[in-house]
Amino acid sequence: MKKIRLGVNIDHVATVRNARGEKYPSPLRAAILAQKSGADSITIHLREDRRHINDSDLKLINSKLKIPLNLEIAATNEMLKIALKCKPPFICIVPEKRKEITTEGGLNLNFKKEFLRKIIYKLKKNKSRVSLFIEANQLDIKKAKLLNVDCIEIHTGKFCRLVDEKKNYKNELNKIKRAVAFGNNIGLEVHAGHGLTYKSAKILSTTKGIKEFNIGHFLVGESIFVGLPNTIKQFKKIIK
Ligand code: PXP
Repeated sequence: MKKIRLGVNIDHVATVRNARGEKYPSPLRAAILAQKSGADSITIHLREDRRHINDSDLKLINSKLKIPLNLEIAATNEMLKIALKCKPPFICIVPEKRKEITTEGGLNLNFKKEFLRKIIYKLKKNKSRVSLFIEANQLDIKKAKLLNVDCIEIHTGKFCRLVDEKKNYKNELNKIKRAVAFGNNIGLEVHAGHGLTYKSAKILSTTKGIKEFNIGHFLVGESIFVGLPNTIKQFKKIIK
């Protein structure tokens, strides 16, 4: 079986920096160290309010990275313009609400559908691989396919919470498994992300057909105790 790629999300290195308005810790330094430690790609989410990653982080990281940069953006004209200019190899379109603490659910694919179609077309024409962050349901996966994306990323937040709270996660896991199989069957590359820890990543890594995990909050938190290289190596071991 082909190994699952690990995308390391470094948004929360910027969260710590911004908490004090200093220049450290540096997201660029984290990106380079993650690259050296075996990350397959680096993910950053440029939010409308720039609460963590900012425009200059994007510019710097995009110019120095050797592995692919995965830029998460909301479907807005501002983000489209930025993404077209910096041409990251990977783009994931995510929903964004100003007041949410984190990305709470998958995209609503009934909303701004024609705009989504237009931006996906432009980003793909600009040579970025385009993914949509969606819930694990067949209807949304079909809609994503019709929008002509390269990949989908399944929101794993609910499953991970059940695992963390030691509750029954079987239904949620089966839902994700069915979604992955369905996505693969209709020709989409399928990724997974949100809320993943060592434990939930290990359970999910037995699901056939997932090509990429994107992991941030737990990974950056764990790095405080054992360092970024050790945390990345541990995740790589778990998901291989
Ligand atoms: N994938 C997507 C599309 C996300 O929006 C996020 C959160 O920014 C993640 C993965 C990573 O989630 P977490 O930080 O909980 O690991």
